[in-house]
Amino acid sequence: MARTAVGALEGRRIVLGVGGSVAAYKAAIVARELMRRGAAVRVVLTAAGARFVGPALFTGLTGQAVASDLFSEGAPEHIALAAWADAAVVAPATADLLGKAAGGIADDYLTTWLLAFPGRVLFAPAMNRHMWSHPAVQRSVGVLRADGVVVLPPVYGALAATGEGEGWGRLPDPVAIVDALGAMLSANGPARRADLPAPHAPDLAGRRVVVTAGPTRERLDPVRFLSNPSSGRMGYALAEAARDRGAEVTLVSGPVQLSFPTGLTVVRVETTRQMLAAVLEALPGADVLIGAAAPADWRPAEVSPIKWKKGDGGEQRIRLVANPDILAEVGRQKGRLIVVGFAAEAGAGPEEALRKLRDKNLDLVAYNDVREPDAGFEVTTNHVILFDRAGGRQEIGPLPKRAVAERILDGVCGLL
Ligand code: C5P
Repeated sequence: MARTAVGALEGRRIVLGVGGSVAAYKAAIVARELMRRGAAVRVVLTAAGARFVGPALFTGLTGQAVASDLFSEGAPEHIALAAWADAAVVAPATADLLGKAAGGIADDYLTTWLLAFPGRVLFAPAMNRHMWSHPAVQRSVGVLRADGVVVLPPVYGALAATGEGEGWGRLPDPVAIVDALGAMLSANGPARRADLPAPHAPDLAGRRVVVTAGPTRERLDPVRFLSNPSSGRMGYALAEAARDRGAEVTLVSGPVQLSFPTGLTVVRVETTRQMLAAVLEALPGADVLIGAAAPADWRPAEVSPIKWKKGDGGEQRIRLVANPDILAEVGRQKGRLIVVGFAAEAGAGPEEALRKLRDKNLDLVAYNDVREPDAGFEVTTNHVILFDRAGGRQEIGPLPKRAVAERILDGVCGLL
């Protein structure tokens, strides 16, 4: 039976904090999108936020009283609201809110609530581009990130206030904000701020790491392609873990539904041949290549420039040609590069992983059985056996993919 991935926001209780910015109107769309994905939403509106959008809008959308003033009669009690919520998103977050949250200041409902809330928090700032690039604001962002808060950087584009033109500072699209919240909740992190792992020793400082992630797509015609259900989560977890251990990371990513991590270089590709080209371009000077992608092994021999018509029943034949194997190509002349591969099997045992270790000239291979419920393609956990060339064998998991990533990197560090 096919496993259905339940959305990360289904049944979650989310507090949406709204700060004072022209972009506050987009918070209404964030609330709607959260509810569309099955979350229950309660809104906390700052005094400045209420100058841009009124509480009636959010009460109407969510069916719940809006919290704004700690002392007003009938306001939701802030400690009770902190106990109620599973996670929080502050969108838009202003420079003022970032600074207060980073400094532990609690002088209104939202900032007090944020201190009382032990769960995970995502800030989506929006502001004038000079404000965003100001060292004081960037300092606040750094402090918040070190405290385990996710800060989704503003995007480049037209700024909402008249006469501001374009720049970095625009609130990301509401759907992207909700995606990032979903990724924060579903991916590799624990639910509570206090349970976040202590920062790892920077044992990859000065190293360059290239990671492939996600599926590739091979086009049949302008609207159809061959692909596979790889989510990209294992590769993204490896790239983030390597970044957090001090490495300079290039993540070569096929099309996935994950938000791009910050602090590393992301190269987006579509086909296996594009992925190979991007890897070859990133490799000079690299110490490690980790192939966590599931590149399509075949591509159609011909790509139709026009959409295939259904015709009158009949059959449609597709002739396929083999794609290059990225790891095998690199493995042939890898020199001192450490190459790590995955062997996602459905039926074949660990011997198949050892064959890949030899045939592709890998240093480490992570074997997993994608038929297990807590391993493989679309889930947030993995269960692997890590083999090395010296005959070493280590079972890892089932654990969140980030934890599996750390153990694989421990193996890499042992070889460097
Ligand atoms: O042979 P198989 O596809 O099972 O090998 C899996 C490993 O090889 C993974 O690490 C995957 O990223 C890598 N691979 C590749 N290029 C391909 C196919 C697989 O690098 N075309």
